[in-house]
Amino acid sequence: MTTSSDKIVTAIAHTNIALIKYWGKRNAEFIIPYTGSLSLTLDQFYTQTSVQFDASLDQDSVSIDDQLIDGNGWQRVHNFLNIVRQQSGITLNAQVKSENHVPTAAGLASSASAFAALAAAASRAAGMDLDLQALSRLARRGSGSACRSIFGGFVEWQRGTNDADSYAVPIETPNLNDIRIVALTVEKHHKPISSRQGMALSVTTSPYYPTWVKVVESDLQSIKSAINADDFTRFGTISELNAMRMHALTLSANPDFLYFTGDTLEAMNEVKRLRHSGIECYYTIDAGPNVKVICQKQNVAAITDTFSKMFGPEKVTVAQPGPGVKYL
Ligand code: PMV
Repeated sequence: MTTSSDKIVTAIAHTNIALIKYWGKRNAEFIIPYTGSLSLTLDQFYTQTSVQFDASLDQDSVSIDDQLIDGNGWQRVHNFLNIVRQQSGITLNAQVKSENHVPTAAGLASSASAFAALAAAASRAAGMDLDLQALSRLARRGSGSACRSIFGGFVEWQRGTNDADSYAVPIETPNLNDIRIVALTVEKHHKPISSRQGMALSVTTSPYYPTWVKVVESDLQSIKSAINADDFTRFGTISELNAMRMHALTLSANPDFLYFTGDTLEAMNEVKRLRHSGIECYYTIDAGPNVKVICQKQNVAAITDTFSKMFGPEKVTVAQPGPGVKYL
């Protein structure tokens, strides 16, 4: 069936930072993870994406920040659009225009906001009217963490076992709403290995991977109970622990790899020093060298002061809980 559509649909999605990490797929085609994960959607970085299916195009056209892309980037978007075409029955090619809104060097760029915005815009442009659960499942097919960016605030990705039951749900809570994330961009480019490759290597070669799967179950229970109890200390402690447990899987892979640089370690030590001096904060780190400092509103000034002196003010961005996906 060739459905024609000239509707341009624009969607906005914000990025998220995982506090309990997703690290490993049990099914790579459908992106079904081995474990659940839990994140906070942030206000400071978002992707705005417009999609139009257009009979005059002989292939999908994809631009990011006004630059046409090709190669692997194009292929990934094209593969995702094929899923939308398969689900909707539309057979036209699409024009995709994406803009990333990032505060200077925030280091928050992520495939999460990109695929959440693309899922929302492309599905509606193809004539589908998906509810948020279905949208989360669709976004997951582009990038696992994208399924969480459909929702705002605290979000849990319930791992499920198949395409139908692996999706994110919001954790509706008035608690911990003074939480802030101070993002430190210690380096922009250092990424020895993508998260996709890194997690696959950890799953297949780290002898600790089965233990990770077990421990994440209890980390998830602990963090949800900390959120429920409005207990920032327990929340921060378990977030930091879980991040280090994830990075232990990179050190124990074969061959081993490491996302940290010297600056990453200095920032981690400084977070501990601040904490011991009474300024409560914790760190979390994704598949890269940049450090996100988890704190509460009242300590933002002291923390940004310290890290501005260490790395320069342009490397420090303060984020707070952000919204779920929206249409313009
Ligand atoms: O969604 P991906 O393939 O970009 O992987 C995300 C991996 C981490 O950011 C390290 C953890 C997470 O849960 O977001």
